[in-house]
Amino acid sequence: MSLTLKHRSPVRAKISSVGTYVPPRLLTNADLEKMVTTNDEWIQERTGIRQRHLVDPGTATSDLAAEAARDCLRRRGIPATEVEVILVATVTPDMLFPATACLVQNKIGATGAWGFDLSAACSGFLYAMQVGAKLVESGAHKKVMVIGADVMSSIIDYTDRSTCILFGDGGGAVLIEPCSEGEIGMLDYTHEIDGSGANSLYMPGGGSLHPSTIDTVNAKMHYVHQEGGAVFKVAVRKMSELGENVLARNGLTPADVDLFIPHQANQRIILATAERLGLPQENIVINIGEYGNTTAATIPLAMNTALSDGRLKKGMTILLASFGGGYTVGATLLRWEC
Ligand code: UT7
Repeated sequence: MSLTLKHRSPVRAKISSVGTYVPPRLLTNADLEKMVTTNDEWIQERTGIRQRHLVDPGTATSDLAAEAARDCLRRRGIPATEVEVILVATVTPDMLFPATACLVQNKIGATGAWGFDLSAACSGFLYAMQVGAKLVESGAHKKVMVIGADVMSSIIDYTDRSTCILFGDGGGAVLIEPCSEGEIGMLDYTHEIDGSGANSLYMPGGGSLHPSTIDTVNAKMHYVHQEGGAVFKVAVRKMSELGENVLARNGLTPADVDLFIPHQANQRIILATAERLGLPQENIVINIGEYGNTTAATIPLAMNTALSDGRLKKGMTILLASFGGGYTVGATLLRWEC
């Protein structure tokens, strides 16, 4: 396989470490059967989900993000003081401000870092990872911590069976650093947003349009609202379209992809996307059964699953894809270098 290197920056960026954290408490399909009218068979058949990890009250997104960042640094063998930038992708920040990145910076003791939060729902991790890669490729920074973390249980209505079965809490992090001699790292990406889909997946209350009041809370506007069927169709179409584009413009075919690591929203979405892309099932990473949809955390959690299973190895060509509220969609092509 020959790779055409698209970008001409003298510095290339790579993922040099991965870290994750999920809270220990489980919410199983059997638990949900006692809360809403649903059953294990329906959930597994329609989504592939068996269980989700949920925080206990008092644990926030910055706690999951900080644990994931600590794990990432431990595995890289460097102290937090070496981190220069912290980017946190999340739709469930601890508070509207300060940014969760500031809280993480303080929790892990990254005394030399600046950073900010990025809001792109389920595509947040891929978007933040590209921002981090550009900061490294520009020569401005050498160690960027990119975190995707969400406490989805804080914005889910556990009386709504169409959403409460889907989501879980979790955090994942990667460190972005310059490539060493001979390494390739980040190859290319393509991102799209389409605000015409804004009302198909959103949390309407608590922002400047509908500030929180007793009325917004009574109307359940502080919860996730989703038109599942509509989102499903666009997710499959757009993830496969962008995945195909990013492969084609780099002169690659599906046969060149060693591993496909997609956002984990629904097992049927993943399989349909992979089928459209012509990717064989054995090259897909799926861990939704264990974690559910953890929004910004799904892709680093899936990277970690593939690493633990021994399926993700240095030198592999990896395709990442995401779709989420916004709509936001992304596809990233990279060489695994750690
Ligand atoms: O990560 C961000 C992006 N989000 C997504 O990608 C999510 C996309 N959407 C989906 O994953 C799926 O649309 C869902 C899993 C949300 C729903 O699956 P579906 O196959 O699209 O089901 P549906 O909404 O068409 O509902 C089919 C039936 C309905 O009953 P009727 O009208 O046929 O009698 C629902 O009321 O299933 C019913 N239903 C349930 N039944 C048992 C809906 N939720 C449940 C449930 N348990 N939890």
